[in-house]
Amino acid sequence: MPIDSEANPQPRVYLETYGCQMNIADSELVAGVLRRAGYSSAARPEEADVILLNTCAIREHAEDRVLGRLSDLARLKHRRPELRLGLLGCMVQNNRASLLEKAPWLDLLAGPDSYRRLPELLGRARFDSAVDVRLDRGETYAGLAPEHADGVRAYVTVMRGCDRFCAFCVVPYVRGRERGVPPEAILDDVRSLAARGVREVVLLGQTVNAYRHESAGFGDLLRMVAAVGGIERIRFTSPHPCDMSDAVVDAMASEPKVKPYLHLPVQSGSDRILAAMDRGYTVSEYLALVERLRAAIPGLALSTDIIVGFHGEDESDFAATLALMRTVGYDSAFSFKYSLRDHTRAFRLGDTVSEAEKSRRLTEVIALQEETSLARNRALCGREFEVLIEGPARRGAGMLAGKTPQFKTAVFPAADSIRPGDLVTVRVDSATAHTLHCSLAG
Ligand code: SAH
Ligand code: SF4
Ligand code: F3S
Repeated sequence: MPIDSEANPQPRVYLETYGCQMNIADSELVAGVLRRAGYSSAARPEEADVILLNTCAIREHAEDRVLGRLSDLARLKHRRPELRLGLLGCMVQNNRASLLEKAPWLDLLAGPDSYRRLPELLGRARFDSAVDVRLDRGETYAGLAPEHADGVRAYVTVMRGCDRFCAFCVVPYVRGRERGVPPEAILDDVRSLAARGVREVVLLGQTVNAYRHESAGFGDLLRMVAAVGGIERIRFTSPHPCDMSDAVVDAMASEPKVKPYLHLPVQSGSDRILAAMDRGYTVSEYLALVERLRAAIPGLALSTDIIVGFHGEDESDFAATLALMRTVGYDSAFSFKYSLRDHTRAFRLGDTVSEAEKSRRLTEVIALQEETSLARNRALCGREFEVLIEGPARRGAGMLAGKTPQFKTAVFPAADSIRPGDLVTVRVDSATAHTLHCSLAG
């Protein structure tokens, strides 16, 4: 049933997001598109006329979570057949046929390049015309103001898609080719964020440092964003090691607003596996990059992504990953069990590592990282850091929380004069693997 705008002047939309920061930013974009088309937002699915799930396809587990949620929501739709239920995002792109088989009652399917057309798709009466999974090489959503969440930090998408085609990864298939958002559109968004009190922006892209628009590269973009008054801190995620040009390193080193923290996914510490993954670098090249970065950017914090149990990973490959983690000494790491993805180049190779073995390797990676994070954080005791205040700490009454330049969470006793968005200097008193416990310095 189409939304009847006369009977229901402001249909309410409930939007739920899965996946990475880029998907969260896409949901902000969708919220803006729908708001301008006359929709209002619902806080809970029960209060909504339209429910949209923005989906992720990166691992089987991500898809399972969406399918589980969908079967809960199906019950709601059964009780209220006029409720419209749709899927957006990465899962839609690849799985149209199987989704329709599993959930024939879905009202809408829209891929990541179709969000401009959402109001039109939602207005359609028949389901078969409410499917839009075309990828569009030209779509950057420039000029479509997203509805950014409140807070001192905001996420701004600067490029879409990925051209790298790592053998394990579905992103290039679901998000299409790389394209940079025009700098003017990025700067307009950043300026309006600054005017609203945002102090930190995180620039987003799947290979964000490959950003290009006409003659501007990512180093240029960092400097342009740094020139926006009111913005105190700039970060970006995720850079690809192969795109870490001198221009980007120089901008990080010389522009004080660009903070010394980098998420630099390595995936594996074995050259054999890195080659099979088509990552484009060897262990020694990656380590040389880490050295170059640490020499140029004092106090740099590093995090990474690691996949365990990729096709062909044997005990010695896995030991090499642990060794690389020890050599680099990451501040934090996200680790994942390899998940076979349809369409990818590694799909036909299949799995060679059992689920139980993947779990064992994952547990070891996590344990090593916890140990390293704890040691690195404890080594900061007695040191002072400038913290951007976000608000009350999640745990501990009367405590405030914020991030250090290195993106570590600092908590300390609140003082009346301190507000979200303030920059204050704290001293580290003690530390866990995930939090610095501090007191106000001076
Ligand atoms: N563009 C980023 C990462 C995007 S996906 C980069 O290239 O670094 C985020 C992380 O998910 C990846 O870094 C990888 O560690 C993990 N990942 C991607 N595909 C996966 C798969 N098939 N199985 C398990 N983990 C995967
Ligand atoms: Fe996936 Fe590789 Fe692209 Fe990252 S760089 S999104 S891992 S294909
Ligand atoms: Fe998932 Fe799509 Fe992001 S597959 S990780 S939501 S780009």
